[in-house]
Amino acid sequence: MTQTLQNKRLLLGITGGIAAYKSPDIVRRLRDAGAEVRVIMTRGATEFITPLTLQAVSANRVHTDLLDVDAEAAMGHIELARWADAIIVAPATADALSRFAQGRADDLLTTLLRASDAPVLVAPAMNQAMWRDPATQDNSKILLQRGYQFVGPAEGAQACGDIGAGRMSEPLAIVDAATALFEQQLLTGQHVVITAGPTRERIDPVRYLSNFSSGKMGFALAEAAVEAGAKVTLIAGPVSLPTPDRVERIDVISATDMLAAAELSAASASVFIAAAAVADFRPRAAAEQKIKKTSDIETMRIDLVKNPDILRSIAESKRSLYCVGFAAETENLLAHARAKLAQKSLNMIVMNDVSRSDIGFAADDNEVVVITSEHAIHLEKTKKRHLARRLIQLISEQVGPGNRA
Ligand code: CTP
Repeated sequence: MTQTLQNKRLLLGITGGIAAYKSPDIVRRLRDAGAEVRVIMTRGATEFITPLTLQAVSANRVHTDLLDVDAEAAMGHIELARWADAIIVAPATADALSRFAQGRADDLLTTLLRASDAPVLVAPAMNQAMWRDPATQDNSKILLQRGYQFVGPAEGAQACGDIGAGRMSEPLAIVDAATALFEQQLLTGQHVVITAGPTRERIDPVRYLSNFSSGKMGFALAEAAVEAGAKVTLIAGPVSLPTPDRVERIDVISATDMLAAAELSAASASVFIAAAAVADFRPRAAAEQKIKKTSDIETMRIDLVKNPDILRSIAESKRSLYCVGFAAETENLLAHARAKLAQKSLNMIVMNDVSRSDIGFAADDNEVVVITSEHAIHLEKTKKRHLARRLIQLISEQVGPGNRA
């Protein structure tokens, strides 16, 4: 099944209605679609189904109380509110809709709704007369105006024997509606592979050739791509940076290792961004023992051979990939960058001037020109994190949400 909710963190609120017996199925399907799910149950919900069942299907502890010291110590309610990418309430009873509309904050679920900025999806479930009741209708309108999204209620036979609109939508329809919450995200459904940092080429057991790349730009891009909804694989050379949240990181040392990791990951990817500063050459053979300095030599030679061009090799082997390169230049900036765009069969190249010490390599800031076959866009000097967001935005405009891997 396609992982339409890959990486997504969802809070499922369950309120006290008979449709709660379907909630474990919703959890299972959300997880099948790739989401991590945490469940919150109101007291009424626990009368219909046990927290243990929901704990088993969600693989996470179920939260039931606002004032639970143990639960607060593990993940406090504000932390839970921040954690969520979206909140789904299914089933949402007539009483729940009324309490949400009033802005109550007297139990865990209502408090979380107050504390979170995440989108909210509700799946009403009640007797058809209760759904038609003017107060319920008014409450629903208030919630719609506040940006809550609704799925259902569906029409049909009800647990109480009535027929009409009020049944909770089927779990599959709820999962589809949850997926739709994220569809406006720029890179939903895309797998982005990013290389970052330097590579290290072994001379002997204690020495290597490398460069000053810090990996900051590649790591910032990984973070921005996750924020934009993508699944992200970050292939990192030796750097001392923490792994951004929800990013799959593969650590490598040499250019040869980086190429092998890139080939594996690119097979399922739709976007490849080469932000690594790959060493262009490596010693022909790494010495097995430490090279000793003997008294009779004043100079030494290390025979170097060319490393594979990772970006070029990936771009040429998978034409459907959207490939982005970086061009670190010191002179004839645009001309050199444009030449690389063509030589490496790229869709986009991000050019930066490495002769300046205030931007590039180890600096926190960068200033670049983004070049495609159609345009050259200058992005002003700013923090690498901001620049990364702009770059991801420009890339997503090119690959578009319809163009899934
Ligand atoms: N690159 C790569 N593998 C290499 C060398 C470079 O994947 N062996 C990628 C870099 O990650 C970058 C782009 O190619 O995205 C351009 O790298 P750069 O060092 O600017 O250019 P080179 O191709 O090495 O050319 P030159 O050294 O002549 O500037």
